[in-house]
Amino acid sequence: MRLYTRTAGSGLPLVLLHAFPLSSAMWLAQRGGLAAGCHVVTPDLRGFGGSPLGDDEPSVDAMADDVAELLDTMGLDKAVVGGLSMGGYVAMALARRHPGRLSGVILANTKASPDTPEAAANRETIAQRLLDGGDLLDTVPNLLGTTSLERRGMVVGRVRGLVGSAPARAAAWAQRAMAARPDSFDTLRGLNVPALVVAGDEDKITPVGDAEAMTKALPDARLVVIGRAGHLSAIETPETFNRAVADFLTELA
Ligand code: MLT
Repeated sequence: MRLYTRTAGSGLPLVLLHAFPLSSAMWLAQRGGLAAGCHVVTPDLRGFGGSPLGDDEPSVDAMADDVAELLDTMGLDKAVVGGLSMGGYVAMALARRHPGRLSGVILANTKASPDTPEAAANRETIAQRLLDGGDLLDTVPNLLGTTSLERRGMVVGRVRGLVGSAPARAAAWAQRAMAARPDSFDTLRGLNVPALVVAGDEDKITPVGDAEAMTKALPDARLVVIGRAGHLSAIETPETFNRAVADFLTELA
């Protein structure tokens, strides 16, 4: 699977994996703000943006294998791999399946626990609705924090645009992939590279407690909780998000 990828900068490779149901477009401020210090690599996960969906069964493992293949194609032995929400699930699958490819991990607005049976059933309902012609615009208020919803009109408009352009088949596939993902706490306990965990104090989907649980499981992790940020912290508070990442990369180097 050849992933469409936008890149910026040079130096230490930093791969950033996007949230559901967005694309590499969500990392605009990271490509702009972090390129001075590293090689920012932002692929579209399969089915989203410019990447084809393929015909594999839905799984985060397939998405992680795509990223390992991308590293091969780019001639990168190792990279710092970060993911936000669904991107974090894929980063954890990569840590499980290809641990030798990681030089550091960033887990933003995500969680290591699997879906409850109710959450998995709800994802199937969403997948069906999408395949029947529905859209995901009603999820936007949950993706953003109260501060963004009340005071950051540009952010709300941009996220509505990104969510509104999500391809239905890919979004349904990804819902099924996320529903099938395993518990990742053991993977985190066994991770032997430094990790940065990022949370937003207004995140309604993956609250700060999820980030604290991941930080506790990881052998070498620091937690940054961003104020006035919801689930899409990298879009809502890009300067603070970028500073946390840049500080982490400086320590790593
Ligand atoms: C995301 O932002 O990627 C999704 O909220 C993840 C999920 O549905 O669990």
